[in-house]
Amino acid sequence: MAKKRILSGMRPTGPLHLGNLHGALANWKNMQDDYDCFFFIADWHALTSDYEMTALIQGYVMDILIDWLSVGLSPEKCTLFVQSHIKEHAELFLLLSMITPLPWLERNPTYKEQIAQLKNKDLSTFGFLGYPVLQAADIIMYKADGVPVGIDQAPHVELTREIARRFNYFYGDIFPIPETILTETPKILGIDRRKMSKSYNNAIFLSDSPQEIQNKVAQMITDPQRARRSDPGDPGVCNVFSFHQLYSDQQTVQRVDPTCREARIGCVECKQMMAENLIKALGPVREQRAHYKAHPDIVRAIIEDGNQKARLVVRKTMEEVRAAVKI
Ligand code: TRP
Ligand code: SF4
Repeated sequence: MAKKRILSGMRPTGPLHLGNLHGALANWKNMQDDYDCFFFIADWHALTSDYEMTALIQGYVMDILIDWLSVGLSPEKCTLFVQSHIKEHAELFLLLSMITPLPWLERNPTYKEQIAQLKNKDLSTFGFLGYPVLQAADIIMYKADGVPVGIDQAPHVELTREIARRFNYFYGDIFPIPETILTETPKILGIDRRKMSKSYNNAIFLSDSPQEIQNKVAQMITDPQRARRSDPGDPGVCNVFSFHQLYSDQQTVQRVDPTCREARIGCVECKQMMAENLIKALGPVREQRAHYKAHPDIVRAIIEDGNQKARLVVRKTMEEVRAAVKI
């Protein structure tokens, strides 16, 4: 039986961090053997909020691709491509925009949320409101069966399903209705205990040097109740402990737990151990990154190859779409 197709994308708004690694990337990596995977960089989507500051976007596209490759997404198993290189996304977006009722977009929860939160940006644009329509085009263009996304993106996939149904209703059954495949959120938090995010300035990046990792780990907030070295701690609420569970060996984890509860280990020492293990675990990623950084031609060839594969699919879909819409 043919593999089911999944598709997902990331906006190039900065280098990837451990939150991305243990969220989306781990999930994508797990799926790459069992699904026909399409993963792309949504650089047009980055414009919807960053249209005033576009200078950095193309650099981030390259960086993120390097991050993807370095953590083990395989160009042999996945089609990796860049949205703006596939102009058909814009054509399908235009056609879908004709049939998408405005109220569907206006009641989109992420739209309202972002307008309220990102007060320093003027998001009262046509493009920002239409963001989910572009996303719908990205998804149904490839006739994806499933879309692995975090919970924050789930409303967009829901809208995609509605838009696809409406298209099919008007013009005939062209598009399968894609399923949302929810990605588990990573247990680790940013160094300030909020969700790890580039915009919170609390992230540890895949590209951080060992020294940077050490500095960031030293700043991490531990169990907030543990004010003094002599106070017992609670690993259950400590973000450093969550990191231990991911990066330290079983023995260390089992030792830290009781010694922390009995105040026999201090947070400084505990963090040092964790930082060492984290630095070691990211070693192979760092090596791969350095390799691709030194050979941007390899990365460009991988993108070109992915773009070609994506183009084969979209050409066929768009022929069907144009015939169905009769334009
Ligand atoms: N909106 C997604 C995000 O910000 C990125 C994205 C664009 C996407 N098109 C997509 C995700 C299609 C999944 C499928 O993370
Ligand atoms: Fe967290 Fe370790 Fe400190 Fe315990 S000793 S509170 S696990 S950093």
